[in-house]
Amino acid sequence: MLAALGLAPVVAAVGCAGGSGSVPGDGSRALPIPPLAESSVGADGVRRFALRAGVGESEMVLGKKTPTWGYNGAVLGPTLRAARGETVAVTVRNALPEMTTVHWHGMHVPARMDGGPYQPIQPDGDWTATWTISQQAASLWYHPHPHGSTEKHVYRGLSGFFLLDDADTNALELPKTYGVDDIPLVIQDRRFSPDGALDESDPSDVGLLGDTILTNGINRAHLDVRTSRVRLRILNGSSGRLYNLGFADGRDFALIATDGGLLPAPLRRDRVLISPGERVEIVVAFDGDARTMLRSFPIENRGTLPAREAASFGFDDSFDILEFRTGRTLEPAAALPDSLAHIAPVAPIGTAADRSFELQWFMINRARMDMNRIDFTVAVDTTQVWTVRNVDNWPHNFHVHDVQFQIIAVDDAPPPPELAGWKDTVFTPPGPVFTLAMRFTDHADPNYPYMFHCHLLLHEDHGMMGQFLVLAPGQRAAPVRMNMDTDMNMDTDTAAGGSSGSEMGGMPHH
Ligand code: C2O
Ligand code: CU
Ligand code: CU
Repeated sequence: MLAALGLAPVVAAVGCAGGSGSVPGDGSRALPIPPLAESSVGADGVRRFALRAGVGESEMVLGKKTPTWGYNGAVLGPTLRAARGETVAVTVRNALPEMTTVHWHGMHVPARMDGGPYQPIQPDGDWTATWTISQQAASLWYHPHPHGSTEKHVYRGLSGFFLLDDADTNALELPKTYGVDDIPLVIQDRRFSPDGALDESDPSDVGLLGDTILTNGINRAHLDVRTSRVRLRILNGSSGRLYNLGFADGRDFALIATDGGLLPAPLRRDRVLISPGERVEIVVAFDGDARTMLRSFPIENRGTLPAREAASFGFDDSFDILEFRTGRTLEPAAALPDSLAHIAPVAPIGTAADRSFELQWFMINRARMDMNRIDFTVAVDTTQVWTVRNVDNWPHNFHVHDVQFQIIAVDDAPPPPELAGWKDTVFTPPGPVFTLAMRFTDHADPNYPYMFHCHLLLHEDHGMMGQFLVLAPGQRAAPVRMNMDTDMNMDTDTAAGGSSGSEMGGMPHH
């Protein structure tokens, strides 16, 4: 069947963007653009993709060979792309030496297709997820989610973009030529040992904090700018590092979209903060013969995070992320539209919360993830209002599967405009209370839960995660049980949320 689908030949995601543009001696390389994944639409109208998770070797740092993991190549993965209303089927083959999963981050998807810890793919096995795209255009991503090992799998290179299109967004005058003026950009931090291997040792309390920045899989990349406006779809694909992005020359940009799609209108900004798992889309204007650098600046939004902790979590660091080179005449681009999307409020500010979550250490509401504990159930098609507060002296964020939510309040005030669009992950510095509103439409399933968790991957792996079922009226919870030894293919010592989770005292949260 895979052959009939035209399974893409194994193309390395890195290096395929035509390595032109390297200036001899300066060590910079052209930004690799992940290829668009091949797909075929059968007589049934289903758009089929094939991914193969496997091992390889890539040149993340010029001149060094690094063993990495990737989808359909040595590192990262092709960009999947589908339109609202389409039914997709993605077959994932696991050619890794261990169990993995593939999760569609930000996707409204049935729980059994979600690709979280309940959909393990054993080595040499495969899994097909199928669902109908029923959400607006957005820049989503896919990544492994094996229980207790997500950080390692992502760190070794497994992640890719999943772009969604819709007619309203296509009709807008936005840069939209993939790889030319519409650029996917995943930012990750890594550490290398002297032999070029990824250094997986000695995680800090926020995980594998790296000193080397990779963009689309390589260090020290540049982009040759050909148009007077460039749209960047930026994903923080790091384990635990936040980025406060801006330009070295101080130029501003338009923030046009967050995790779940377009904002109501472009916002003029000179900085934008993204925590692990979050995405933003920005449009940057260029003219003339100038170079500039996209840079990450020290993190300003720290809540009550103590200075010494903040420093140890990388909050004071600055990095060059991507150089932009405009050495020739630029193709003119249309001005940005004044308005982008209409966002209907899910619930008004002041709506009483249905539940509340406190984030602390590796726990949510003082409990660590337990595969045998469903934390709560939600009635399908009801509006949920949740409050989330980081009561820790660590940074955390909060991600919910299946939905895009709205932040309706930060403490008692409306959210700042950059947080007023659709979100699936929100940075929660210590202190403020974030009130989220969301609706779990359709996809009720008494057997398979969805996850909510901190997206700092070390925290998630150590149990800063919980699970809930979405139930239809009259349905009773009947969660599937996973066998931690055979299904999960892991020894329980490393299953941080398993046995150790219950030793921590899995107190019910309310
Ligand atoms: Cu990006 Cu539960 O994941
Ligand atoms: Cu997710
Ligand atoms: Cu956390």
